[in-house]
Amino acid sequence: RFEGVTMAPPDPILGVSEAFKADTDAKKLNLGVGAYRTEELQPKVLDVVKKAENLMLERGENKEYLPIEGLAAFNKATAELLLGADNPILQQGRVATIQGLSGTGSLRLAGAFIERYFPGAKVLISSPTWGNHKNIFNDSRVPWSEYRYYDPKTVGLDFDGMIADIKAAPEGTFVLLHGCAHNPTGIDPTAEQWEKIADVIQEKNHIPFFDVAYQGFASGSLDQDASSVRLFAARGMEVFVAQSYSKNLGLYAERVGAINVICSSSDVATRVKSQLKRIARPMYSNPPVHGARIVANVVGDPTLFNEWKVEMEAMAGRIKGVRQKLYDSLSAKDKSGKDWSFILKQIGMFSFTGLNKAQSDNMTDKWHIYMTKDGRISLAGLSLAKCEYLADAIIDSFYN
Ligand code: LMR
Repeated sequence: RFEGVTMAPPDPILGVSEAFKADTDAKKLNLGVGAYRTEELQPKVLDVVKKAENLMLERGENKEYLPIEGLAAFNKATAELLLGADNPILQQGRVATIQGLSGTGSLRLAGAFIERYFPGAKVLISSPTWGNHKNIFNDSRVPWSEYRYYDPKTVGLDFDGMIADIKAAPEGTFVLLHGCAHNPTGIDPTAEQWEKIADVIQEKNHIPFFDVAYQGFASGSLDQDASSVRLFAARGMEVFVAQSYSKNLGLYAERVGAINVICSSSDVATRVKSQLKRIARPMYSNPPVHGARIVANVVGDPTLFNEWKVEMEAMAGRIKGVRQKLYDSLSAKDKSGKDWSFILKQIGMFSFTGLNKAQSDNMTDKWHIYMTKDGRISLAGLSLAKCEYLADAIIDSFYN
């Protein structure tokens, strides 16, 4: 009966990790998935996470079911981190927050909500975007189309194209925006450009829909990285925001995140929350507790909170260090005079190299460097020691 099932293609991002594991070459390097590694290229568990887990053991926390909406202390902490603890929107009770299965699961809840309450509405996503966005909306049966974002000529933002496409979308479109550290390009709008994006979204009565996967990880400051979302919220707009703690707390496998819906009144927020719970219950019943307790403990304890910020800055700093070294190595080795400074302008975990599919294949086949086929490399998986090797591989792939 299962004869008719065809083979699914490997995932464009997580499939790269599978291929990396199967490679036996000692020089191999995994720059595919966006997961932080130490300079020794080992996964990192943050010290604050270990301390929060010890606290949980000492307190003898139980494993009872959480409510459908998740851990109350987590939901409070996550909305406060996003909007700022003293944001009047929180005092007004205008935010419906429910814990989700990290960024993906939170986006999926939003997808199901849009499909149910805004039938026919479209989601507008950036071209390019994170590989999983299209899958999420396809599976949610929410139609989507793209707005221009990346300009290959400048390896920068196609701001005019972006504005024109958002303007041209039918009124009431959900516009998916990356809160900070755009994935895969690492190219973010400036503060002035964010204002203009908010202007056109407001004019067209669109609904801004933020994916915030890197708060604190892009600039090293939690507040700075949430400024795009806060700008839209301060204008009184209704906003969707998905959050993830995979990167900034290194809680990848704990699947902890949230979906927040900023509403026009606390009444609306209460109703929206009730419907999000109704969507979550038949999907997975209620979310896992462990990661949510870690977040609540770290954010809720001033000492741990400050230690977290220091550790996060150190991670963001290490990535900036390899970014600089990669740029220096490329500039020194490349005799063609090509300007590689776009690498320094990009922010966050990734660099969008401009390598095409064939060139990316050469990186893997010849150099054992694993990366996604859109030309993205994760600098979080790179060490200073490997920068020269990577630069050789990029130059070889680029010019041959
Ligand atoms: C990535 O873009 O590499 C990460 O967000 C991991 C993932 O789930 O794709």
